[in-house]
Amino acid sequence: MEQIIYSIQHVTKEFPGVKVLSDVSIDVRKGEILAVVGENGADKSTLMNILSGGYAPTSGKIIYEGQELTSLTPQHAQKLGIAMIHQELSLSNALSVAENIFEGRLPKNRLGFVDKAELMQRSKLLLQEVGLPNLDPRTLVRDINVSQQQMVEIAKALSLEAKFLILDEPTSSLTVNEAEYLHQIMRTLKEKGITMLYISHKLDETMAISDRIVVLRDGQLITTMETAATQIDDMVSSMVGREYSAGYTRAQYKQDYSTAKPILEVKNLNVGKKVKNISFTLYEGELLGITGLVGAGRSEALQAIFGADKRQSGDIYIEGQLCQIHHPSDAIAHGLALVPEGRKLQSLFLRFSVKENITIVSMRQVLSRLKLINRKKEYTLADTYSQRLRVKTPTLDQKIVNLSGGNQQKAVIARWLANHPKILFLDEPTQGIDIGAKNEIYEIIDEMLHNGASVIMVSSEMQENISLCDRILVMYDGEIAGELYHKDATEQNIVTLMAGQKLDLSAHTST
Ligand SMILES: Nc1ncnc2c1ncn2[C@@H]1O[C@H](COP(=O)(O)OP(=O)(O)OP(=O)(O)O)[C@@H](O)[C@H]1O
Ligand SMILES: [Mg+2]
Repeated sequence: MEQIIYSIQHVTKEFPGVKVLSDVSIDVRKGEILAVVGENGADKSTLMNILSGGYAPTSGKIIYEGQELTSLTPQHAQKLGIAMIHQELSLSNALSVAENIFEGRLPKNRLGFVDKAELMQRSKLLLQEVGLPNLDPRTLVRDINVSQQQMVEIAKALSLEAKFLILDEPTSSLTVNEAEYLHQIMRTLKEKGITMLYISHKLDETMAISDRIVVLRDGQLITTMETAATQIDDMVSSMVGREYSAGYTRAQYKQDYSTAKPILEVKNLNVGKKVKNISFTLYEGELLGITGLVGAGRSEALQAIFGADKRQSGDIYIEGQLCQIHHPSDAIAHGLALVPEGRKLQSLFLRFSVKENITIVSMRQVLSRLKLINRKKEYTLADTYSQRLRVKTPTLDQKIVNLSGGNQQKAVIARWLANHPKILFLDEPTQGIDIGAKNEIYEIIDEMLHNGASVIMVSSEMQENISLCDRILVMYDGEIAGELYHKDATEQNIVTLMAGQKLDLSAHTST
C-alpha cells in the first residue's frame, strides 16, 4: 500500500455567491508527482490554495501526514513543509532577487543585522540550481524578464526545503527548454522523496512528468488516472466533457501576395540592444507570426512599435502614411491594439470589475451624446465579448482579481477585440489558456482576419505558429533570421532559423 501524505476528504468551497469546489476527495501519495488538470475556472488553483493555507474549505477535511489541519495558515503550512509556487508571480519588484528568495527569512548575523555575505552565497547556490548561474542576486526583480522571475519563484520554493511542493502553472511563461529544465529539477526533487502537485495546461508536459493525473471540471473531481495508462485524448475528453478534436487549421491561408496591400510597414527599427535594425511589412488580412527564442527581441519589437517602449530609430507607416507613434495612445488612435504577455504585470486593472476591464479602451463606443457613459451600452459591449470568449464569471461586476488566471487572460483579449482594432498585436495570447478555449480564441482571430483586420502574433508555441500564421518571421539575436510562408512553416524549418542557422528553401516559390 502506498503511503498517503495528504488526504483531501469531501472538500467543498464557496465564495460569497459562488459555489466553487464540491465534494472533492483525493489521496496524494507520498513521493509522487500528481498532475491536476482542467479547464480555466475548473477550480484547480482554489484547491491548491486550500492545501497551502490560503483559503479555508467551507466543509470537508484536509489531513496531512495523518493530522487533520483546521484553520491552516500559509505560515503554518510552511512550517509543515508545504510550499506553493503561485500561478501569478508574487515577487516584489523593488527588491533584489536575493531579498525575494529569502523574504521574511533573511539570514542574520550575531548582531541581528542581515548577513549579506551569507545571503549572497546562498542565493547564488539556489540560482545555480534553477539554471541562472550568471544572474547577480543583487539585481532588482523589476529588471529581469518574466521567465527569470518564474525561476526565482522556484528558487524561493527550493530555499524552503519543502516536503510537499505545489506548482501552479510554473511553465506557462517558460520556453520548451526552460520547462524541460524545470522538469529535471522536479525529477531530482522526486528522487529526494518530495511530493509534488503540478498544474499545467500543457498536456504533453503533464504526460511526461506526472505519475498520476486528476481531472477537475466545474469544481468536481471527474477522474483519477495512472499516467502510464492514459492517452492525451482521454484526458482531454474528461477535461472538457465532450468530444474534442485536436489540431486547429484555418479554412484558408494567404497564398497570393502579388496583390497584397501593405497595411503596416516598419523600417529600420532599433530598440536598445534587443532589436537590431529590422524592417518588415504586414499585409491586410494577414496573420504574421514573429517567433524566435525568448530574448530574441520579439516582444520588445512589438512594444516599441506600439509606443510602449522607447525605440532608438524606426519609421512606422500605416497604409502608406508615416505615423508618429510615441505612446500607446498614439497607437490606439491609429487603430492598433496590443495584448501584452504577462497579464498581471502589464494589463489588468485588478481592483476593477470584469466589465470595466473589458470596456476600458472602448469608452468612445459607449458614450452618450452628452459624453456621459451610457451604462446600458457599456454592459452590452462587455457582455457580448465576455460571452464570445466564454469568460467564466458569476457577473460582469465581479472584481477581475477574483477570476481564474485563464479567465483574466480571456478578459484582456476581450478588451482589445471590443475596440475593433485594424491592426492587432498579440504577445503570447494563449499563455495559461486551456486547450478548449484556445481553439475558441483561434476562431475569433480567424474571423477578425476574415473581416479585414491584420494581426501580428508572437508565440513560443510551435504548433500555434504553424497552424495559424500566413507567414512567420523568425528572429535570432535581434535580427530577422528568415521568413517562412505557411507552406514551408514546418517545425524543422522554424527550429533551424531559431537557432541562427541558414535555411535553404530551394523549392520556395512565393515572393
Ligand atoms: N476570492 C474569490 N472570490 C470569488 N470567486 C473566486 C475567488 N477565487 C476564485 N473564485 C472563483 O473560483 C473559480 C475557480 O477559479 P480557479 O482560479 O481555482 O480556477 P483554475 O482552475 O485555477 O483556472 P485557470 O486554469 O484559469 O487558472 C473561478 O470561477 C473564480 O471566479
Ligand atoms: Mg489557476
